[in-house]
Amino acid sequence: PARILTGITTSGTPHLGNYVGAIRPAIAASRAPNTDSFYFLADLHSLIKAQDPARTQRSTLEIAATWLAAGLQPDKVWFYRQSDIPEITELTWLLTCVAGKGILNRAHAYKAAVDRNRADGEDDDAGVTAGLFMYPVLMAADILIFNADKVPVGRDQVQHIEMARDFGQRFNHVYGRDYFTLPEAVVDDNVATLPGLDGRKMSKSYGNTIPLFAPTGELKKLVFSILTDSRAPGEPKDAEGSPLFQLYQAFASKEETAAFAQAYADGIGWGDAKQQVFARVEREIAPMRERYLALVARPGDIEDTLRDGARRLREEYATPLLAQLREAVGLRDLS
Ligand code: TYM
Repeated sequence: PARILTGITTSGTPHLGNYVGAIRPAIAASRAPNTDSFYFLADLHSLIKAQDPARTQRSTLEIAATWLAAGLQPDKVWFYRQSDIPEITELTWLLTCVAGKGILNRAHAYKAAVDRNRADGEDDDAGVTAGLFMYPVLMAADILIFNADKVPVGRDQVQHIEMARDFGQRFNHVYGRDYFTLPEAVVDDNVATLPGLDGRKMSKSYGNTIPLFAPTGELKKLVFSILTDSRAPGEPKDAEGSPLFQLYQAFASKEETAAFAQAYADGIGWGDAKQQVFARVEREIAPMRERYLALVARPGDIEDTLRDGARRLREEYATPLLAQLREAVGLRDLS
């Protein structure tokens, strides 16, 4: 079976971009025949940005509940928390020792930090932690440890998957055997990047997100605050490049989307358009929101599910793999 793997960083409340770009396609993929799916909460990654312990814990619970509310079946897929599998951290070091520093220099998140520093006239690396720099190596360990074939992600993560291939390939080459499967990114072209309220990519770091489970009233308010141009009702509008349109498209059928494009061409007023977008999103989210609220009220159950997933995964894959890798690189076998 094909192995599908993806994770979400536990650094905040899940937003519509996470749902459309990662959670929804991953759950759909896990239902396909002949697949083995691995979905996890990247809490080690969250330490890079969110150094607030209570927030990391809260976010872990919220994101776990989100996966479950969206239909993940923990008895059919592997569902776990990254930090419950210490072999991931150990593999990170083994990969660090074959990863080219020059490749890490080119990682988008690191480069963006350097660019900001330059623009501010600071030293290139001012305020940059080694954790941010090493982010792609930890992510490669997440993927390679379970020999994932396919990694469904938003477009912003594609570079990281390419790096995981590179590090895996180098390790295989240096130690003379195909220890690792080389993973491929899977990007759904219809919804590759969901824009946020201001039209830029929806992202926690831009503060332009719509929380996935915002109460109905707040969801409506947020949708109505999405940036539009100043064209009046009756004037034709451009669907291309309209954040409102892209949001609609992510939640509607092909036919509904075609009809909405026609409404744009016919000069629908922005208020009407926003009402339609809100209705489509709410239609899909409302039943999930109810399940979500019931789930977060029982954190003990979620905790049990996560621990059980990690325990079985370590036994079945992570511990034996690390034993093999320790031997490959010339370290003592711990077992
Ligand atoms: P994170 O937590 O930033 O985002 C989780 C997933 O959501 C996607 N995404 C979006 N998709 C469409 N439109 C958007 N506006 C949008 N914003 C976010 C992201 O592409 C991602 O798929 N490093 C990863 C987490 C991670 C991971 C992994 C993923 C850690 N290890 C191994 C895959 C495999 C991250 O920070 O994603």
